[in-house]
Amino acid sequence: MLPPDANVAGNVFGGTILKMIDEIAGIVATKHCRRNCVTANIEHIDFIYPVHIGDLLEMRGKLSFVGKTSMEVGVETFAENLETGDVNFAGKATVTMVALDEDGRPVPVPPLKLETEEDRKLFAAGQKRYDERAKRVKHMKRTKNR
Ligand SMILES: CC(C)(COP(=O)(O)OP(=O)(O)OC[C@H]1O[C@@H](n2cnc3c(N)ncnc32)[C@H](O)[C@@H]1OP(=O)(O)O)[C@@H](O)C(=O)NCCC(=O)NCCS
Repeated sequence: MLPPDANVAGNVFGGTILKMIDEIAGIVATKHCRRNCVTANIEHIDFIYPVHIGDLLEMRGKLSFVGKTSMEVGVETFAENLETGDVNFAGKATVTMVALDEDGRPVPVPPLKLETEEDRKLFAAGQKRYDERAKRVKHMKRTKNR
């Protein structure tokens, strides 16, 4: 991370990391469905360790849940101090991406292959969040349209 990435306190600006999280989630989702994807939701974002200028940032994205046209990606962020080699877990976000067809409409994506017990647990937890989001979005669409 370089000086233009800093906030006024001299650490890395959260919005900079958020943008990178969004990009990583977009790449993971696009690689799954080979379609153009948009961000529908970012939730559960926790910054638990400050990232410093000079740190090397590593992000790991993994699909946790796939619906019909939506994909949930968990993105973990690690910050490495290049002088000491210390690596800190900086935070985690959960991002929902939706695949779009050529006309910009949601389009079905391939199912997720669940290979391990961990995959199945992640999927079940993702399904719960998906159900909660669906309820919330339905309510918003009903009440917020002008
Ligand atoms: C995401 C978007 C394409 C969904 O379109 P829509 O007309 O609501 O389509 P649907 O109701 O058929 O929903 C399609 C899928 O998106 C999911 N979805 C819609 N809104 C969502 C939200 N806010 N959070 C999470 N998932 C959402 C639905 O659950 C559904 O998933 P499923 O097919 O796996 O069941 C539309 O809301 C959109 O274009 N949003 C803006 C996206 C954008 O521009 N992002 C960049 C930042 S501005």
